[in-house]
Amino acid sequence: MKSELHVNYFLFLSCIILPYFFLHPGSNQNSVSAKPEVSIVQPDLNSVYHWGDQVRYRITVSDMNDGDSRFGEIIPLEVFLETKFVAELGYTDMPLNSGLQEIKENEGLYLMRKSTCFGCHADKTMLVGPSFSDISDRYPNNPETMSTLANRIVNGSSGKWSDIDMPPHNDLSIEEAKKISAYILQQGSRKNSWVYPGLEGVFRIIDKPAGTSGGYYLLTASYKNNAPEPAIGRHTIVLEIR
Ligand code: HEC
Repeated sequence: MKSELHVNYFLFLSCIILPYFFLHPGSNQNSVSAKPEVSIVQPDLNSVYHWGDQVRYRITVSDMNDGDSRFGEIIPLEVFLETKFVAELGYTDMPLNSGLQEIKENEGLYLMRKSTCFGCHADKTMLVGPSFSDISDRYPNNPETMSTLANRIVNGSSGKWSDIDMPPHNDLSIEEAKKISAYILQQGSRKNSWVYPGLEGVFRIIDKPAGTSGGYYLLTASYKNNAPEPAIGRHTIVLEIR
């Protein structure tokens, strides 16, 4: 009697339960190409923020292909925080629409994350090299500028900004460098938008603009994984500034 029960149980397990796990459409095997899970875990959404405040942020990334930032498996310089100040929230600014924004992938930005650019350049502050903002102030945004800058990125540059040289980046093609230049010129000209590489850091909320009583900061963290078919994960939050 006892062994019969065992046999029945075994049959039940092998014929019904096991195939269910292997063939069930929702099983893990179908979600390998999933998007990275990106979360802005700090700042705290329930706090009130004021003009000029320093805001500390922290991002976590968990990806089936690349690993988890909590175990040091994600390269910090491949994670970006984009912040944007808006006086009023428009329809496309709502975090619920972050799915829509996903369509416009920023190729130039994601190409830079694979190179050394952010070791010497920042969006709005001068480091070893000029900021994106300085570059976009200096050159007109047209195809000619993109070719000139692309050539200098690939072959190196000297004597344009200071007596420090920029080394060549032969790992990039001219086409890739043009996409990067287009991104630098566009992002540099957005004066109320900032891009920071890294999983954590601090940014400062702008001083109160004349004629504004309050406003919002939109924070979007993003990460593009290194899977055979790369996918981008994002998380957007809104901070209210008073
Ligand atoms: C080792 C530091 C360093 C690295 C790495 C670096 N740059 Fe530069 N970059 C500089 C310096 C310094 C200058 C200014 C050179 C000059 O005065 O001509 C510069 C200038 C530039 C310019 C302006 C060129 C011009 O004609 O005005 C662009 C665009 C640029 N860099 C993009 C990039 C990109 C894209 C990357 C990554 C692929 C990169 N840089 C990596 C240091 C660096």
